[in-house]
Amino acid sequence: MNFKEHIIDKITELTGLEREAVSKAVETPPDEKLGDLAFPCFPLAKVLRKAPPLIAQELASKLSSDELIDRVDAVGGYLNFFYNRAAFISDTVSAVRAAGDGWGRSDMGSGKTVLVEYSSPNIAKPFHIGHLFSTAVGNSLAKIYKFLGYDVQSLNHLGDWGTQFGKLISAYKRWGDPAVIEKDPIKELLKIYVKFHEEAEKHPELEDEAREYFKKLEEGDEETTALWKYFRDQSLVEFKRVYDMLGVEFDSYNGEAFYSDKMDEVVEILNEKGLLVESEGARVVDLSDMNMPPCIILKSDGATIYATRDIAAALYRHRTYNFYKNIYVVGLPQSLHFRQIFETMKRAGWEWSKDCVHVGFGLVKLPGKNMSTRHGDVVFLEEVLNESIEKTRAIIEKNNSDVGDVDDVAKKIGIGAVLYTFLKNSREKDIVFSWDTMLDFDGESAPYCMYGYARGRSILRRAEGIDYSDADMSKAVSDDAYTLVKLMNGYGDAVKDAADKNEPFYVNRYVTNLVKAFNKFYNTNPIMKDDVDEDTKKARLAIVDAVCGIIKSALSLLGIEVVESM
Ligand code: ARG
Repeated sequence: MNFKEHIIDKITELTGLEREAVSKAVETPPDEKLGDLAFPCFPLAKVLRKAPPLIAQELASKLSSDELIDRVDAVGGYLNFFYNRAAFISDTVSAVRAAGDGWGRSDMGSGKTVLVEYSSPNIAKPFHIGHLFSTAVGNSLAKIYKFLGYDVQSLNHLGDWGTQFGKLISAYKRWGDPAVIEKDPIKELLKIYVKFHEEAEKHPELEDEAREYFKKLEEGDEETTALWKYFRDQSLVEFKRVYDMLGVEFDSYNGEAFYSDKMDEVVEILNEKGLLVESEGARVVDLSDMNMPPCIILKSDGATIYATRDIAAALYRHRTYNFYKNIYVVGLPQSLHFRQIFETMKRAGWEWSKDCVHVGFGLVKLPGKNMSTRHGDVVFLEEVLNESIEKTRAIIEKNNSDVGDVDDVAKKIGIGAVLYTFLKNSREKDIVFSWDTMLDFDGESAPYCMYGYARGRSILRRAEGIDYSDADMSKAVSDDAYTLVKLMNGYGDAVKDAADKNEPFYVNRYVTNLVKAFNKFYNTNPIMKDDVDEDTKKARLAIVDAVCGIIKSALSLLGIEVVESM
């Protein structure tokens, strides 16, 4: 039974207003003490030629309580409805438990494809902390959209093309040693790449050689292509190690190289539409009327660039997936790039370009560490994850808690703590990494939420053998139980809000609040104590069971796995 719909029906019947209008007008009061749902009578004042408080009073006197509504108060110009708590708790808890991991899900996305492009590191280059931010946000968004019934494709737009690969090939042919590289691919490739730059300062002809190699690569020359593929494969082995740790998977690793033969068409289309103009030898789309620098399509030497590959990729995605949304989870410093390519696509007459969205995020600061250049390598990133795991293990050992498989638990908490940190605030905010905050078991953190779950599960384990499947929920109508159950009821809305704004932090905030309310509930509503009577115990157990399911589900949408004890 839907309490809100029921009240909307009642108001509609009583006032003769359009149901739609009533549905839009009802709101959640700012303070729980004011009830569960409010209807502002102000819009009726004109029609009825009466003051809103008077209207509220008259309507309240005509509304009687029923099995769902406990009472209706007129306060100022508002009608405040109080649900029948026992009915609400009973209804919600049984719905949650019956739905299992389907609670909060929706089929609103059915038949629609959402592309979430995220992570997208550059091969033979360090996977830096910004890529980790993108990975955390994108992975969560992919899960959120799936939860809402969308067909989701996770895309990794690898940076695997560009003139730098000519340099790398040249460097490799001079100084590359496969045996050394395979031990630590990205670090070694970076080393010879850096060496190339040093040498090229003294011997500028190296640059010509590199250009020549890239040209060969573009022409599909066998040897250079094989080398390029080798760099790519080696880099992917390393990236995948990080993805495995995080539990992240992609449906496609089509990177920039994949579009290298799909750009001529883009250039042709833009040309036909008369969008390309000459600028210092380059071919560009002039965007000055939008106060943007031109979008460069072909460089003066005829080579295509990042933007062109992105436009070709968007066109390919449109044709391949006919997407509902094409989301790019990429740092805010690339905002201008996306505004430029989206505008160019719009001018090309691609009306679907309106469904391309740049989901940006802020910067990450690691106090005491220099993230700027070469230190931010893939080793370093794994170090961050490993450090988190080790610190967690130390805490577990210090607490002397019996967690079973320490490795597994430390890993889930350690990784969870990192992911949570990226998803804790609105994504455009900069982040400061602090171990103390991340691993604070009492603060707003992954361990805190995971502990709430583990605590609930331990209560349920102790209750084994007690059948609470048809508990009388009128035995659990305390304020704290009610607050908790109301939150449980709002899960689906939190997930929808997160998708609507492309902000996983709505789910993060939701689950953190849920756990806070759960903590309060079990502190004020003892469960397995001797002096708790059987019926009350059963009702409270049903709540614990329902809430555990939601904590697990919500954390999974953040990419965080729960543990049974900690
Ligand atoms: N590889 C790029 C980088 O590391 C990010 C790619 C973003 N995605 C895109 N479609 N341009 O900066």
